[in-house]
Amino acid sequence: MTTSTGATGRYSLFDALPDAVLVVTAQPKLVYANKAAATLFPALDNYAPGAMVSRYIRHPAILDLAETVFTDDWDAGADPERFTLPGKVDRRLSVQAAPIEGADADNAGPATALIMLHDETAMWRAEQMRADFIANASHELRTPIASIIGYIETLQGPAKEDRAAHEQFLGIMQDQAQRMSRLIDDLLSLSRIEIDEHMPPSARVRIATIMSKAVDVISPLTEREGVSVDTLIDPALRDAEIVGSEDELVQMLQNLLDNAVKYGSEAGRIEIGAAPDDKKPGNILLSIRDFGQGIPPEHVPRLTERFYRVSAKTSRARGGTGLGLAIVKHIVNRHQGVLRIESTPGEGSCFMASLPLAAKPTAPLVAIDFVPQIVDNPPK
Ligand SMILES: Nc1ncnc2c1ncn2[C@@H]1O[C@H](COP(=O)(O)OP(=O)(O)O)[C@@H](O)[C@H]1O
Ligand SMILES: [Mg+2]
Repeated sequence: MTTSTGATGRYSLFDALPDAVLVVTAQPKLVYANKAAATLFPALDNYAPGAMVSRYIRHPAILDLAETVFTDDWDAGADPERFTLPGKVDRRLSVQAAPIEGADADNAGPATALIMLHDETAMWRAEQMRADFIANASHELRTPIASIIGYIETLQGPAKEDRAAHEQFLGIMQDQAQRMSRLIDDLLSLSRIEIDEHMPPSARVRIATIMSKAVDVISPLTEREGVSVDTLIDPALRDAEIVGSEDELVQMLQNLLDNAVKYGSEAGRIEIGAAPDDKKPGNILLSIRDFGQGIPPEHVPRLTERFYRVSAKTSRARGGTGLGLAIVKHIVNRHQGVLRIESTPGEGSCFMASLPLAAKPTAPLVAIDFVPQIVDNPPK
């Protein structure tokens, strides 16, 4: 980085700013670039004051602005211009300019201008994700609606008098309507959990209780599919508790059990377990293990993305919405935990939620004297 002497010295305060700032003259020559500018444009790391700006920065949005800010065309009230800076990770930047006085310490010297760059990548990505999400959700809803409309038209027209077709088509329409209903339920769960995500829960729940509740909820499916569920709780954790929302934690286990049955029940059995987390002392590891086909490793990091499925066809055929693991991930986050996924193709998968154990309840402050009573005729 250039030493701050002479003309550049008066701008060194800008080094404390998170946004990139350049001071340029009308040619445009570079008078000064702050530290944040050098992180965006590494060529600026060792710039020579007085060199042409284009030697370090090629982006037309910046170069054009560095010229127009000195002309009558420049509009001080115009919205900042936005552009994408290509790189390993594309960055979205906005750029603005403002004329300032001369470059020298006594404000003499050539006219100069500030070029200010603001990194909007995070906001831009969030906006893109939101737009993608709406497009995906609409697509997922549109498919069953289109199919229902198609069957209604057939029933009103060509198949009007065909009793057998009525039976068959109404069955399909019912399946499609149920699919939309599941999708809406999952979308609502997801948005509810997301709204609460920054507020940690405060109730205490027993781990053994949420595990048995989740197994009960899933039992119609496991019975229908002929899958047995083995519950394995480390005896030391039989009465252990976590700070959490019972409904959400049951939903988390239920979604994982549901997947294990739907995509990994070839062996006819699955496991739900609770054990201390060796990797994180003080945490408990809730795990759902199956012995099915497993998941190819390239898919594993993306499974918790909304609507991401290894096979959309299998997921749909099994009544999936593609939102189950996204819901699981948000529930785990809200409970200050982490989700780990291990899968070996051909051997099976294990989904683990590592969650902080609740502190043991404190002992009552007042000791109560216990006077044993002799009962003459103890009840049988
Ligand atoms: N236990 C599992 N074994 C194999 N694949 C799984 C398992 N759990 C999840 N998957 C894959 O992850 C995808 C996303 O799961 P999920 O978010 O619950 O959506 P859905 O079950 O509705 O498709 C599933 O479609 C499936 O491809
Ligand atoms: Mg699922």
